[in-house]
Amino acid sequence: MPMTERGDSSMLYLNGAFMALDQGRVGVEDRGFQLGDGVYEVVKVVDGRLLWMEDHLDRLAWSLGEIRLYGALEGHPLHQILPRLVEMSGVVSGTAYVQVTRGVAPREFALPNDTPPTVLAYVRRDGFPGHREILDGIALHAVEDIRWARCDIKSTNLLAAVLAKHAARDAGAGEVLYVSPEGLVREGGSSNAFVFLDGVLRTHPANNRILNGITRQHVLELARGLDVRVDETAVSFDDLAHAEEIFIASTTRDVMPVVKVSASGRDDLIVNGGRPGPVTLSLADAMRAGIPAAIGAPPPVTLSRN
Ligand code: PDD
Repeated sequence: MPMTERGDSSMLYLNGAFMALDQGRVGVEDRGFQLGDGVYEVVKVVDGRLLWMEDHLDRLAWSLGEIRLYGALEGHPLHQILPRLVEMSGVVSGTAYVQVTRGVAPREFALPNDTPPTVLAYVRRDGFPGHREILDGIALHAVEDIRWARCDIKSTNLLAAVLAKHAARDAGAGEVLYVSPEGLVREGGSSNAFVFLDGVLRTHPANNRILNGITRQHVLELARGLDVRVDETAVSFDDLAHAEEIFIASTTRDVMPVVKVSASGRDDLIVNGGRPGPVTLSLADAMRAGIPAAIGAPPPVTLSRN
């Protein structure tokens, strides 16, 4: 089978070679597999282009530095590899997944010397929330945040998220809401949380307790551009009862209104009468409107100009 044929959505880049995804093999003693010793990124593909790729690659480089995995991307020019994968796969709407681990070495906790890293990336087709889903909104299920104290690193250690997301699904919710032991709202299971409270858009500061989402950073910029007052200070879980609006934001969820928050042992909280609020929808609209420019595509045709 020709491996470079356009339209094969499961093409993989692995340590310098392109292949079909199901042909990829990684060693049993890969430290990513055994120890979760790796970092990753998820980049959105819109209209066959990678949205905010440079931002994601910058964050990947930063995560690599924080885990002392220096020089891992030498010889792996991801800013060329990712567009090539998109082109080869023919994916128009989807995600690119990138993972870098410390490679294969005899199992020992401390860092090995001179082990070549495992660098992989692949693109997959995915749908994103459409108008209907956005207007329906999403329910969050609050759990105590039991993750480690370096959530700013986009680590492949995702067991806490796996268990929390499972609990959320059992509770009939679409996403987790992590709450600190002191009762502060941190972020979603794989998204950042925003709360519009007393006329101010609040979100947890970008410190070690959350991942500083690329979407989060764009939402904050858009909010400032729309003259929405922004404050990067955490909201308490109890304050959610007075929230005018709540939403989450991420690469895969975009700006998604939250209409309900559940927590075990508490009554469900219905947000804004169970409907997306105006600030959330204007940010969701502004984000969509900015995408063509961000991916270098022509702006959408507007009715007023034609
Ligand atoms: N996760 N917080 C956490 C814990 C995340 O895992 C993510 C993204 C975000 C949002 O970041 P961004 O806007 O850069 O996507 C916040 C990805 C989508 C994932 O793990 O699938």
